[in-house]
Amino acid sequence: MKKKLIIGNWKMNPTTLDEARRIFRSTKNTAKKLTSTEVVVCPPPVYIQALLTKRGDPVVSIGAQDAYFEEQGSFTGEVSPIMLRDLGVTHVIIGHSERREKGESDEVISEKVALALEAGLKVVLCVGEKERDEQGAHLESLKLQIKNSLNKVPKRLIGKLIVAYEPIWAVGAKEAMDPATVYEMSLFVKKSLADAYGHTEAVATQVLYGGSVNFRNAGDIIVRGKVDGLLVGRESVNSDGFTELLKAVDALK
Ligand code: PGA
Repeated sequence: MKKKLIIGNWKMNPTTLDEARRIFRSTKNTAKKLTSTEVVVCPPPVYIQALLTKRGDPVVSIGAQDAYFEEQGSFTGEVSPIMLRDLGVTHVIIGHSERREKGESDEVISEKVALALEAGLKVVLCVGEKERDEQGAHLESLKLQIKNSLNKVPKRLIGKLIVAYEPIWAVGAKEAMDPATVYEMSLFVKKSLADAYGHTEAVATQVLYGGSVNFRNAGDIIVRGKVDGLLVGRESVNSDGFTELLKAVDALK
């Protein structure tokens, strides 16, 4: 069985490096014992270097939560994917709904995805609808969002793309999407990728689910939702919960 991919998005947490080290240590101790689960942690950028003990750490990989669409230059406050790569970062989340909410457009996202892939990073592209519509209008808008977010990305780079389907209404919410609908939507994401890049590429692309995942629902979402893994927000900075989540996912057959 292909390894399941669990990505922890710490967002703007925790507030001290000591606490970041503590959470990371706990994640690493659990991850060491897993046999069929790959773990990636995406801390705030200020903690990345301190947590990266050695390049390409095989136990827990480190990802960033964003990267700019230029290699270097006069872009105050931005971080380039080349810099991340040089540090030993392997993954980067791009197009998270909390950034889209602040005005990040599909066009900017597609430029970010293209440069990060070109730099050799694995890109976790976040997509998802704001709300669902009885007539299915959210499907059209999701398809368009996927197409536009990948507009600048040539087929030759698609091998390192991961898509995280995160219905926005389920992010930071009380409940996740039900697993049966997760399955439908992940198929729809694959179909949209197939329309853009071809069937083989779509089948090879990992599709994750994100939005209110916790240690209780994680296994069910993977099994019945038939996704390749999960993008986990709040539960990834809760050491006990994340430990349970990783164990539950690893125990799946
Ligand atoms: P949540 O966040 O798990 O806290 O809902 C998920 C995400 O934003 O990636």
